[in-house]
Amino acid sequence: MCGIVGYISKGNDERSVNIGIEALKRLEYRGYDSAGLAFWDRSGGIICQKAVGRISNLENKIGQNGFSPADPVILHTRWATHGNVCEANAHPHSDCTRDIFVAHNGIIENYPALKEQLIGEGHVFSSGTDTEVIAHLIEKCFEGNLEEAVRKSLGCLVGTYGLAVISGRDPNKIVAARLSSPLLVGLAEDYFLLASDPSAVIAHTRKVVYLDDGEIAVIGRSNFTIIREKKAEEIEWADGQHEKEGFPHYMLKEVMEQPESIEQTLKGRLIPEAGNAKLGGLDSVEQRLRQIDKVYIVGCGTARHAGLLGEYMFEEYAGISTRTDAASEFRYRKTLLDKNTALLAISQSGETADTLAAIRDARSRGALTMGITNVVGSTQARETDAGVYTRCGPEIGVASTKAFTSQVAALALFTLFLGRQRQMPLETGRRIVRELLRMPEMVEQTLQCDRQIKELAEKYRGFENFFYLGRKYNYPIAREGALKIKEIAYVHSEGSWGGELKHGELALISEDFPSICIVPKDSVYEKMVSNIEEIKARGGPVIAVTSEGNQEIESLADDVVYIPDTIEFLTPILSVIPLQLFAYHFAVLCGCDIDKPRNLAKSVTVE
Ligand code: G6P
Repeated sequence: MCGIVGYISKGNDERSVNIGIEALKRLEYRGYDSAGLAFWDRSGGIICQKAVGRISNLENKIGQNGFSPADPVILHTRWATHGNVCEANAHPHSDCTRDIFVAHNGIIENYPALKEQLIGEGHVFSSGTDTEVIAHLIEKCFEGNLEEAVRKSLGCLVGTYGLAVISGRDPNKIVAARLSSPLLVGLAEDYFLLASDPSAVIAHTRKVVYLDDGEIAVIGRSNFTIIREKKAEEIEWADGQHEKEGFPHYMLKEVMEQPESIEQTLKGRLIPEAGNAKLGGLDSVEQRLRQIDKVYIVGCGTARHAGLLGEYMFEEYAGISTRTDAASEFRYRKTLLDKNTALLAISQSGETADTLAAIRDARSRGALTMGITNVVGSTQARETDAGVYTRCGPEIGVASTKAFTSQVAALALFTLFLGRQRQMPLETGRRIVRELLRMPEMVEQTLQCDRQIKELAEKYRGFENFFYLGRKYNYPIAREGALKIKEIAYVHSEGSWGGELKHGELALISEDFPSICIVPKDSVYEKMVSNIEEIKARGGPVIAVTSEGNQEIESLADDVVYIPDTIEFLTPILSVIPLQLFAYHFAVLCGCDIDKPRNLAKSVTVE
């Protein structure tokens, strides 16, 4: 989704636009449809340029005009919400005098009323966006000092924002403001970089200050002020993790990284003797967790599928009643929350607007709020009472892969922790710990199916529909497998429970409609085999994902993929891998834009 970058140096840096563009490119993975920038030019004014499509289009446009760029500069990638995709609607937006420029992430909900009022006062609008009202409001409030004008304007806004503002009338600063849309300031030696995502600044500095809601930062040439003094934090990710490192796509790189990313999630958190997990992020709520008798898990997309697994895990091993909801639904239904209820939010980015809204709703109703997230310092991490980081490194591909398996591994740690607080026997805990310690190696082994999966993608190329079926712990994996191929190959797919097939979906089965059945040797194995029989009896092709050594399935399925054998509740970490690879290879054959699928964004920061 939308991204913001700002750059200001000690003075007159002719690299300003290049540095800004390079930083903006690091946000490309978030998904966008147009880009723009506004910069101070040595000719003595602010120049604004915009282009639809890729950032490279913007670069070409700038290159064709003989500008003399200096700084400050603000840049933006837009993912359309209000107003269609066109140059006029791309950011930055300006006031009537074209002297105040605003880049904005978020949504201004009361913009129609503000716009009407501003038009009534004589302001002329040139876009169909909600953002443009901010530029005109600042123009109206300006009395010589930009931050004062921004501060006054913010008082009129209802909605969410991460803002970067510059003005030719007060040109030695960038003013930034945040409400529910992330912003941070990177502190480099001779310059400051403002960004909506740490990925943009990581190549320049590890020292960052995250803005909190309601804060305004005034970033000058050699110092910056913020309403509340804040301590600089260290970004933990290595820069190399932002590169493809020889892989053709980030998605494939991230799939292949899973042995290491899962290891990172588990590292230092398992206590083999005690059959337990040590989770520092839960220390402060350990006693309160003992009283919890109900858990709501919320998340969106892939994170919700991890949540569905958490539901099975918590109920079976910790004996806690658990329900998983799409975060976008959670606060619109009559959920029964009290002080003995915990809300567990799962989000790779920690910035998904629907998930944050669910957290705020649960907190306001007295529930304990916890999170599983990947991004250190994200809004989710800061707004929950307690939580666990997945530590799987930056995920750039829009289709989530390594973040998912790390979320499931983190849920397994949560399960151990909650289970051992309650009725889970020591031996069960120890067994789970032993299997988790083997997990990176088993994932490595599973990845060896890559070549076979590529061949399967070739064999099934041309099919336009797929079923993904599983039961119990592999039902969420069926959903996730279907989502992956839908997201990146634009193929119709459905993920369902094997047992539900005969209640409707079976009507669709034919030789043109293959099913991918996840059928490890677990407690529902025979039931899944019956479901496969039902499909075969109607001529449907079947690809089975099963446990190594289970050759009997070969007489039933058309193709068989083997995964290592482990305890039932950890099989999902392995069984999802062939499905990730199948979606990947299928999409490559279809010629799709793997890392930036159409219409999707990596981090959805609007509701
Ligand atoms: C978007 C992405 C999905 C992701 C979902 C939740 O829809 O395209 O891949 O699963 O957001 O993102 P989160 O950062 O909250 O895990």
